[in-house]
Amino acid sequence: MIIAIDGPAASGKGTLGKRLAHHYGYRHLDTGVIYRAVAHTLMEAGADLNDEALAVAAALELDPERFGNPVLKTQKVGDAASVVSAFPRVREALVSFQRQFAADPPGAVLDGRDIGTVICPDADVKIFVIADPRVRAQRRTLEARSRGEDADEDAVLADILKRDERDQNRSTAPLRAAPDAHTLDNSYLDIEAGVRAAIAIVEAVRAKR
Ligand code: DC
Repeated sequence: MIIAIDGPAASGKGTLGKRLAHHYGYRHLDTGVIYRAVAHTLMEAGADLNDEALAVAAALELDPERFGNPVLKTQKVGDAASVVSAFPRVREALVSFQRQFAADPPGAVLDGRDIGTVICPDADVKIFVIADPRVRAQRRTLEARSRGEDADEDAVLADILKRDERDQNRSTAPLRAAPDAHTLDNSYLDIEAGVRAAIAIVEAVRAKR
């Protein structure tokens, strides 16, 4: 079974997807990390983030061993990821890695922005996670502070809104719900309740088969 989790609030740094994968004994891929890794390669090289050719080269040389680097979680790298992920050729270069991950047994949970629409349009279950941007800003600020980063909630909110806007309006694979996706609003759910709600969606879809 393939479970696609998309939406502006899909990642929460992979927590929901990770927990869901654990529940079902599946593998988990937080696809945001892939775009963050590409962006970070450019940042490390001191390159211009708008250099499409370099971004494509970084995507083609993607090294999953680097996904665990904690610097990838920072707001700065996330912003840069939103920029490089708008290049169609960067996205194209990353499709087969993601599809292969999804296809390998025993099953997989992928979270991102375009899993249910582009990467795995035939996913068995699609969940579109939304949350009030103010609540997301609060959560991201706490996350950043717990990592020792300096974070101002208003600045984080402005960044979230700008990034959502960019992700939703890019021409290739814009952030949007697949027609067959189930919306999950986790504004007022804690992690446990969010995981329970996601499991309930998966079980409801399975029961209908
Ligand atoms: O989920 P995240 O914050 O780690 O994602 C960082 C950026 O990467 C996000 O702003 C847009 C991009 N992204 C994407 O375009 N497609 C995905 N499947 C995942 C992330």
